[in-house]
Amino acid sequence: MIFDTHAHYDDDAFDEDRETLLAQLKAAGIERVVNVGASIHSSHTTLELIEKHDFLYGAIGVHPSETEELNEEWMNWLEEKSHEKKVVAIGEIGLDYHWEEPARDVQKYWFVRQLDLARKVKLPVIIHSRDAAADTLEIMKEHGRDLGGVIHCFSYGPEMAREYLKMGYYLGIGGVVTFTNAKKLKEVVKETPIDRIVLETDCPYLSPVPNRGKRNSSLNLPYVVDMIAELKGITAKEVMEKTWENAKALYRMTE
Ligand code: NI
Repeated sequence: MIFDTHAHYDDDAFDEDRETLLAQLKAAGIERVVNVGASIHSSHTTLELIEKHDFLYGAIGVHPSETEELNEEWMNWLEEKSHEKKVVAIGEIGLDYHWEEPARDVQKYWFVRQLDLARKVKLPVIIHSRDAAADTLEIMKEHGRDLGGVIHCFSYGPEMAREYLKMGYYLGIGGVVTFTNAKKLKEVVKETPIDRIVLETDCPYLSPVPNRGKRNSSLNLPYVVDMIAELKGITAKEVMEKTWENAKALYRMTE
């Protein structure tokens, strides 16, 4: 039983075979997936998709790189839609300084606003943070300490991991952990208690070895499970069971 806590099945990359692929997941043991919005458009398409498939749940929110599209009207829309039954989180939200665009102040402003939204509607958050470790931590300490949620595609070192674990956050681990050059992330997984790790694909991106570079899907998660099992010296079955329970706790699912 595998829970993919972060996927983008509404992405164009799945236009050709989306329904066929989704129909294969359950038979392959992928029993629950959270599809994550990253813009207003993909929050819409996420809502459409989760309505059609009972094992799909959704998160809505605007990724830092898309924050220039946000305004009060869209914030009201996000708030309204956050009350829909299968919406389990606000995200993905955060900071991404990789391309220096939009301006850092714009990203920070809408990051804080979406954290405040999560607090208001009582949902956990999915945090995206790339090349922005210090600013993300500062904002999370001030505005996100008590919200609960996941640091998705965790990409920083053990020290930063400890800060988020202290605040009660889960770490999202995906394909990157299988890369031979992912030494730092392997260290993080070794040090993080198994009850604070959740599985994710971020598909169509970040396929694990041996499918690195190809389109990713939840069908690749067993490779991630095996690597986590090896790093932690436990069985693959234990990894699947623990991360399933963790994912349910993260998204506050009772069944
Ligand atoms: Ni994502």
